[in-house]
Amino acid sequence: MATSSDHQSGPSPSPLNQLLFSHVYSAAVRAVAVHRIADHLAETPRTADDLAERAGLHADSLRRVLRLLAMHGLFTQDEKGTFGLTEAGQALRTDVPGSQHALALLITDEMFRRAADGLPDTVRTGTTPFEAAYKVPFFTHLAGSPAAQQLFDTGMNVMSGRGDELIAGSYPFPGSGTVVDVGGGRGGFLRAVLSGEPGLTGVLFDQPDTVADHVLDTEEVRGRWSVAGGDFFSEVPAGGDVYLLKRVLHDWSDEDCLRILGSIRRVAAPGKRLLVVDTVLPDNGDPHPGVEVDIVMLMLVSGRERTAKEFEGLFSRAGFKLNRILPTPSPASLIEAEAV
Ligand SMILES: C[S@@+](CC[C@H](N)C(=O)[O-])C[C@H]1O[C@@H](n2cnc3c(N)ncnc32)[C@H](O)[C@@H]1O
Repeated sequence: MATSSDHQSGPSPSPLNQLLFSHVYSAAVRAVAVHRIADHLAETPRTADDLAERAGLHADSLRRVLRLLAMHGLFTQDEKGTFGLTEAGQALRTDVPGSQHALALLITDEMFRRAADGLPDTVRTGTTPFEAAYKVPFFTHLAGSPAAQQLFDTGMNVMSGRGDELIAGSYPFPGSGTVVDVGGGRGGFLRAVLSGEPGLTGVLFDQPDTVADHVLDTEEVRGRWSVAGGDFFSEVPAGGDVYLLKRVLHDWSDEDCLRILGSIRRVAAPGKRLLVVDTVLPDNGDPHPGVEVDIVMLMLVSGRERTAKEFEGLFSRAGFKLNRILPTPSPASLIEAEAV
């Protein structure tokens, strides 16, 4: 059997070897994220002994984990066994702008790992591995576990990060009227949209526990927003000129998407706009980062990433017409439609 040291024996590991060992790397990243090793290295490089003493850890095990991650560019390592942070490793600090620490904890969490274990069965049966492991749908699990919900919401916030501003800046939002962000999480995207258009007002709509933790309380959007908690399968707030669905439809099957779009269509008169922010997969098999996220969707929920044709089909079944698709500086596109 190949061992991780075999990686070093040839000029470069084979693509298969890289894939086979990828879970070892994510486990190592998890270990340093859980113990906030990057924070301990913020000021100065340290030896594993020093780090272990500061963080109450086992020095030899920590050294071996750091050595692995140094090999992949997260840490520097000198001949005396002193480890420092590379630029990429800085993102694991908790106290820097653009920190990926919360995302690292989410993506390597037990919820993802247990779901991943079920993938062979899913390939046979088509069932959702998260549900097979936890006996409830992903979002039901989150709703019943404040810690898991907090982990997810914080990770999502990180994932959106500066992307929210870049995506909001990629679309010509109207100068007045109301945007309703359906499944808007804690409101980072809505805040970015409102910040760019001082004449706009906004409604953040999501599950009650999520909107309770919103991030809209900032000077630049003061007095121009409200929040509403509820279930987008039943109804969404009326009165919107633009309805946003950012990274929502990819969580759901076509049937569920039609229910969400149906809730919006019931309150959106013909001509009102729908703006979906999601990955649009190429339909010719070209590589795209959305293909990775598609497998996360397969493991956790009934959702999927979609091609332009698949979005067009969904929209027309729900009473919307796809107008255009705009690229953004992120892997996601802006898909504009209007109620017909
Ligand atoms: C992948 S997150 C996207 C959040 C946000 N739009 C963003 O881009 O960061 C999906 C959101 O849908 C919300 N959600 C899930 N089920 C819902 C439901 N039945 N009603 C309302 N919101 C729901 C979740 O709470 C979560 O905030």
